[in-house]
Amino acid sequence: MEQFDIIVIGSGPGGYISAIRASQLGFKVAIVEKYSSLGGTCLNVGCIPSKALLDSSEHFYNAVHHFEAHGIKVKDVKPDIKQMIERKRKVVKENSDGVAYLMKKNKVTVFNGIGSFLSPQKIKVTNDKEVKELTAKYFIIATGSKPSTLPGIEIDKKQIITSTEALELETIPKHLIVIGGGVIGLELGSVFARLGSKVSVVEFLDRIIPSMDGALSKELQRLLKKNLGFEFYLQHKVLSASKKGKEVVVSAQNKNGETIELKGDYVLVAVGRRPYTEGLGLENAGVQVDEKGRVVVNEKLQTSQPHIYAIGDVIRGPMLAHKAEEEGVFVAEVISGQKPHIDYNLIPGVVYTWPEVASVGLTEEQLKEKNIPYKAGQFPFKASGRAKASMDTDGFIKVLAHKDTDEILGVHMIAPRAADLIAEAVVAMEYKATAEDIGRICHPHPTFSEAFKEACLDAFEKRPLNF
Ligand code: FAD
Ligand code: NAI
Repeated sequence: MEQFDIIVIGSGPGGYISAIRASQLGFKVAIVEKYSSLGGTCLNVGCIPSKALLDSSEHFYNAVHHFEAHGIKVKDVKPDIKQMIERKRKVVKENSDGVAYLMKKNKVTVFNGIGSFLSPQKIKVTNDKEVKELTAKYFIIATGSKPSTLPGIEIDKKQIITSTEALELETIPKHLIVIGGGVIGLELGSVFARLGSKVSVVEFLDRIIPSMDGALSKELQRLLKKNLGFEFYLQHKVLSASKKGKEVVVSAQNKNGETIELKGDYVLVAVGRRPYTEGLGLENAGVQVDEKGRVVVNEKLQTSQPHIYAIGDVIRGPMLAHKAEEEGVFVAEVISGQKPHIDYNLIPGVVYTWPEVASVGLTEEQLKEKNIPYKAGQFPFKASGRAKASMDTDGFIKVLAHKDTDEILGVHMIAPRAADLIAEAVVAMEYKATAEDIGRICHPHPTFSEAFKEACLDAFEKRPLNF
């Protein structure tokens, strides 16, 4: 029986990053993955393929709607969804092959098959050809998550689909009904709306992207409606989704108790994801899960068995690739005796619509709830020279700083390239910068990043320079 110092189960961004870090720290490491393609949800059916399709559809949208204003004449622009999907597959393969290369380079042994605990010290790995038994001193559970669904809805994977099937769709829906106004619904809804689909979003709560600052929800909803023709049904509880002939019908109840019916050709169910532990044999290892099926961990990310750790989507916290990665590094370093730290308040969140939405730290709602005295500053992109040049004048950056100390407590933006801009806010907040600090730092001109400096000046002393 082969023995390792550390066995990681699952090769998503949590698992493969923890394997690399553990190997760097001198451990003998193995990683077990049930699919032949490494990289988990993120690389295969999540972050990477969705961004590939978002980019392709954005090019198409710009060609139709913006090229002429830029002085570029194109005729008969048509989307070729098959080619878009083909390109996406290539991007996914390159990334997944990249992970395989990294495993080799870092001398991590890869086992292909389903990993399942036989005891707290032993797992079996089962694939089509064989069953292998492996032991280790430490285990890291990084088995990720799967799409959730609702009672009354059966995913047929053809017309009633999750993100996994939506990323393989070779037909542009005429009318895509999205259940859930969260990140997946709005990103993938954007892909198809840009390609010409009518998109209707049915959301249970009274706003979209409900975990983000309310100002972002409002502005994103307005822009998706104005630019892409999205229709929103907020405060609607979905009762069922079913096939009727060639159509799919979604019925939902509004806040007055009335039932509405929406008819379309595809329904995307995007109501969150659930931790994935099926077939993992947690009961044989004595590892506990909570009422939501998440593996229970302490502050060191140890499960109820101290030598078994868990990271990423399978535990509490936001289901984000970079959160899983941070935890992967954290656990490898804890096992090696180091004292790493993760500040969960400073894990940024991004929605890759256009404009993009990004956020870090506390929202205005949370500051009010916690009774923290704050001041707010804002800068709109319509006042940015860079944004005017690229015709990206929608959106704003909002900075929330402590009323007395001026420390930045939250940054919320709906902005061109917000996904990249938010990194500066994360660095600022990690180093406990004040709004004045950022307002006094030289930012290159013309850039979108100047808007952050301006919003900080506005939060500091209500003295932006360009607005
Ligand atoms: P996963 O990536 O889910 O990996 C778990 C791996 O474990 C899988 O490969 C699985 O096959 C394997 N596994 C499970 N059980 C076993 C077993 N018993 N034996 C062997 N292997 C097993 N996050 C972002 O930060 N940015 C984004 O832009 C983004 N976009 C997304 C878009 C979509 C459409 C989706 C669905 C998700 C997106 N996410 C994004 C979320 C992100 O994909 C996850 O947070 C991330 O993949 C979690 O990483 P993980 O390592 O915990 O698990
Ligand atoms: P989500 O949690 O972002 O959104 C789900 C939405 O569905 C919520 O707004 C919720 O109120 C709504 N909802 C729940 N039940 C409903 C019902 N019965 N009827 C109508 N609406 C209902 O989950 P989503 O979009 O499925 O994404 C899953 C995870 O994947 C997220 O946690 C996210 O972190 C991650 N992800 C991250 C991305 C990124 O970082 N850019 C992109 C895509 C996914």
